[in-house]
Amino acid sequence: MLRHVLSILALAASVSAFAQGKLQVEPLAPPAQAASAAQHDGIQGQNIFEVKPEVKPDASSDANYMKQSNGQRNAVQPGNNAPMWRGAVSGQAGFTNYPHSQAPEAGVLIQAPVQYPGSRFTTAGEAWRQVRNNWLIPYGGALLLIVLGAIALYYFAKGPIGVHGVDEGQHRIERFTPFERSAHWANAIAFSILAISGIVMAFGKFFILPVVGGAIFGPFTWLLKSLHNFAGPVFAVSLVIMFFTFLRDNFPGRGDLNWLLKGGGLFGRSKGHEPPSGRFNAGEKIVFWFGMLVLGFFVVSSGLVLDKLMPGIEYDRMGMQYAHMIHNTATVLMMCVFIGHIYIGTIGMKGAYTAMRRGWVGDEWAKEHHAYWYEDIAAGKIPAQRSRPTVMAANDAETPRTA
Ligand code: HEM
Repeated sequence: MLRHVLSILALAASVSAFAQGKLQVEPLAPPAQAASAAQHDGIQGQNIFEVKPEVKPDASSDANYMKQSNGQRNAVQPGNNAPMWRGAVSGQAGFTNYPHSQAPEAGVLIQAPVQYPGSRFTTAGEAWRQVRNNWLIPYGGALLLIVLGAIALYYFAKGPIGVHGVDEGQHRIERFTPFERSAHWANAIAFSILAISGIVMAFGKFFILPVVGGAIFGPFTWLLKSLHNFAGPVFAVSLVIMFFTFLRDNFPGRGDLNWLLKGGGLFGRSKGHEPPSGRFNAGEKIVFWFGMLVLGFFVVSSGLVLDKLMPGIEYDRMGMQYAHMIHNTATVLMMCVFIGHIYIGTIGMKGAYTAMRRGWVGDEWAKEHHAYWYEDIAAGKIPAQRSRPTVMAANDAETPRTA
């Protein structure tokens, strides 16, 4: 206690002496002098504003200026690391020490410049970003909105396609066997998960992030991205099963050209009078060959590359960038095709959903929507019941029609 009182008194005395001008404060030694006095080895600090490098103002007039190594450049222009960065952005190796076992491009910090379709000639990562953000996202999003809008307009203007005759539903024709339905449902469920999660990954930052904020959007998108990775292989397998299950009835056949020329009876004066078709009409066949096979091939192969599940591939950044651009383009087109398909299969055509849910359709439905198929069933060329009746009876109490 006494010590504290004494030091306070000493401090008070110094302050009063300083105020009366009796006490002089020695100025501190300048930092440079202090540092040299210390005589320490190792790294020394220095004030950047006091550094006076010996810059040769005409260094850049040297004919070899642009060929200088970083060491040579620093000798004439200390602190100018342009040669090093020029090497880094030209895709040269030697800028990272990532092990070769983990990265085929070990040592390459920044990819060499390229020009992707729609990008400027610039480093590949930036070129890919330009393609995605300047083209794929805005135009893909616009295309999806246009398709959705067109279908909504059609629905509100024309309503669902119905059945004109009286479909008493006494005679039931099996349209899809339990196996066909389970293959289709596995594919449809996987597709829906992939489409929803994909839309959130690609477009969510525009319409979900501003509403829920980053703290929710981040984990939510991560969850959907994990679901996407899980549903992808399920979709791939179910697509192959679907292809072989429905292949036989999707070859071009009688009435397809006429169906196409009349726009399927969806528009104008022919609306409501569907041109005759086999089990599947030409529109469904386009969904099968273009939507499922062609787009399915690009979507699945690029998706499996992005998931690093494709064997025998050396995964480097450029491969991933191409895979992504193909995946994005093909998936947006696939969504456009399948939005139309889903519309007709649900609210767009009465009775279509029952066929997929329960497996059967009524006589009148078959006659009006797939006349040639109905003719073949009525003539006994195709059995009206293809699965074992007991299975169908368990699904539905009524006994199906037998041809
Ligand atoms: C075998 C099937 C599929 C696999 C393996 C797969 C895998 C992937 C992977 C790994 C990504 C990258 C995710 C990331 O950025 O981290 C992705 C993105 C995406 N996928 Fe898929 N996918 C498949 C099918 C589909 C389907 C069927 C759709 C839509 C119907 C779809 C739509 C999308 C979309 C929109 C993106 C975001 C692209 C972007 O952000 O630019 N995918 N997919």
